[in-house]
Amino acid sequence: MLNIVLLGPPGAGKGTQAELIVKKYNIPQISTGDIFRANIKGGTELGKKAQSYMDKGELVPDELVVDLVRDRLNQDDCADGFMLDGFPRTVFQAEELDKMMKERNLSITKVLNIEVEASKLIDRIAGRRVCRSCGATYNINTKPTAKEGICDVCGGEVYQRADDNRDTVENRISVYNSQTAPLVEYYTKAGNLATINGDQPMDSVFSDIVKVLGE
Ligand code: AP5
Ligand code: MG
Ligand code: ZN
Repeated sequence: MLNIVLLGPPGAGKGTQAELIVKKYNIPQISTGDIFRANIKGGTELGKKAQSYMDKGELVPDELVVDLVRDRLNQDDCADGFMLDGFPRTVFQAEELDKMMKERNLSITKVLNIEVEASKLIDRIAGRRVCRSCGATYNINTKPTAKEGICDVCGGEVYQRADDNRDTVENRISVYNSQTAPLVEYYTKAGNLATINGDQPMDSVFSDIVKVLGE
């Protein structure tokens, strides 16, 4: 059973690798960012609360995130493993996740820390486009859709995320450095951190991940 955490700064390739991991290992991707964006789109109370933080590139308060993840992990499709993308993002969230795992007699198999030089992140994010319907991730420079603006997978509309503008991205990166980067030490101490070089072609990043997770 694989219980995975994807760690890494904005634009490192968490969502991109998650798509490949889901296909190969058949475990659900739990992206807290995607869940918040779906709530914003749906106009829910949670979406209204999260939006102002996300627009500024700040973290949504821990108390809005932790219960949401706990509920999600209780769903049936997580019974044989799961992959968290974008959670935990603070030491508090990591400690809460440890408690959730303990309650279930489970543990986190691996934390995949995807490393990419900061200077490359902004360009990657500026070029990113995402499918509104299925969430598939593209890049106008490195991974364009076959037809402009149309998702290759589902034919949905491909758009640019509201928080993918230069000012917000710079703040997201600095928030990552101050609030999330301490998790590298946290999971090194826990003994389950695997460092992945994210500054390679997507397929090479994925084969390094497969080496860590096993065939
Ligand atoms: P979230 O949605 O998690 O965004 P993020 O962490 O900023 O990460 P990104 O999705 O931007 O990057 P990614 O690593 O997934 O990169 P991708 O694969 O798309 O969070 C958004 C917001 O929600 C947060 O700011 C916060 O407000 C809130 N939030 C979410 N979770 C929270 C939590 N736990 N607590 C509090 N608040 C929370 O790739 C990027 C681009 O690069 C793509 O175009 C892709 O095609 C390209 N690319 C990928 N890999 C490669 C490669 N190897 N070579 C070249 N290009 C590549
Ligand atoms: Mg992502
Ligand atoms: Zn799509």
